[in-house]
Amino acid sequence: RGTQKINEHGRLEIGGVDSSVLTETYGTPLFVYDTADIRNRADEFHQAFINQGVQYEIAYASKAFSCIAMMELAADLSLSLDVCSEGELYTALEARFPVERIHFHGNNKTPQELEMAVDNNIGCIVVDNFTELSWLMALTESRKQKMNVLIRITPGVEAHTHEYISTGQEDSKFGFDLNSGQADRAIRMIQGNDYLHLRGVHSHIGSQIFKAEGFEEAVKEIFRSIRSWNESLGFYPEVLNVGGGFGIRYAEGDKPLPLHVYIDRMVETGKEEAEKMGMPVPEFWIEPGRALVGEAGTTLYSTGARKDIPDIRTYISVDGGMTDNIRPALYQAEYSALLANRAAEQTEEVVSVAGKCCESGDMLIWDLDLPKVQQGDTLAVFSTGAYGYSMASNYNRILRPAVVFVEDGHHECVIEREKLEDLTSRERSFSRLKETAS
Ligand code: LLP
Repeated sequence: RGTQKINEHGRLEIGGVDSSVLTETYGTPLFVYDTADIRNRADEFHQAFINQGVQYEIAYASKAFSCIAMMELAADLSLSLDVCSEGELYTALEARFPVERIHFHGNNKTPQELEMAVDNNIGCIVVDNFTELSWLMALTESRKQKMNVLIRITPGVEAHTHEYISTGQEDSKFGFDLNSGQADRAIRMIQGNDYLHLRGVHSHIGSQIFKAEGFEEAVKEIFRSIRSWNESLGFYPEVLNVGGGFGIRYAEGDKPLPLHVYIDRMVETGKEEAEKMGMPVPEFWIEPGRALVGEAGTTLYSTGARKDIPDIRTYISVDGGMTDNIRPALYQAEYSALLANRAAEQTEEVVSVAGKCCESGDMLIWDLDLPKVQQGDTLAVFSTGAYGYSMASNYNRILRPAVVFVEDGHHECVIEREKLEDLTSRERSFSRLKETAS
């Protein structure tokens, strides 16, 4: 994957850096990002839109992995940014991300979050529901400030993916419903408002989608509504935001399409539909998270305890687990891995990789072929760049790992490993106990 290779010492190398240098310098568990891979993927997306000759924005869905260095890289790659909380917006602002390229999402933005977005004059707010819409109207009116918005709709397209990461179906907490006339009402409200400018529509059908048909269907479905809005409300969108969800390779069986195929299919469908209506081709916006950073990330763990249950299974435990990668426990997600310090050796045994949390469900990989594992080996788990660190927790008071960017033989820590003091730094002792004792 990316710039990974097995070097002359038989060790995994990422971005021209030997994995043993990384583990010795930074310890484990360690998230390693191959930034050249992120650059290549951003370029692939850009090139696909340029070849289609359409206006576009590629908003990096920062929920996949958010930190200052990542936002700086995204800005440098001419990406826009999807944020969905004050914390993600704050991180973007700290990274001096160009505000006009920030898009704000979320099904329960608070009044304070809307205020932060408006105060910082961000590029657009993706309005999700009537509660938010009325708050936003009052806010922009009181500030006498204009704001660009898109409305999020649920196009009724079922993405063939895990139900927890599928969002486009009608029965969903996200967006305005199309069938009951909610979306029409929202459009009318925005049209009648002096401060909100309705730039277009947004839909996100789900994540880890391998079939381009999902996006094609979503575009067709949105155009079905656009035709009726155009007739009844005189509304035709400048922007069509098709969301994210482009699938990546986690395990062997995953076969994502080349990125341009998704773009080609969605843009060509959009062009055809616009042409049928005799209307201009809208701008296309997408919001990839995992497709930009997922495969670029690798987690390095140290192997520890071994448990052999004769004729049943061998468990090899590592120094992380569901605290740095909840995806196997939450979505039954599958990963591939190898021993980074002995990457050229033949496989000799089948083991199951366990995390160190006090939960039977804290398993990272079942039935993995590896050389005979020794204590202190380095296990590299691939494609952990999206929703790994960003969903990490301190469960069992385990410390969050460090994050390192590597490129061209250079390595650089962008998030320090948490320290034990961090765990209690915001805590206070229970003073009442002392008062009642005295
Ligand atoms: N746009 C919107 C509105 C979204 O809700 C999401 C993801 C994305 C874009 C980016 O999706 P991506 O391209 O990364 O698939 N934690 C889960 C995925 C939940 C994603 C939620 N929204 C996981 O680990 O798979």
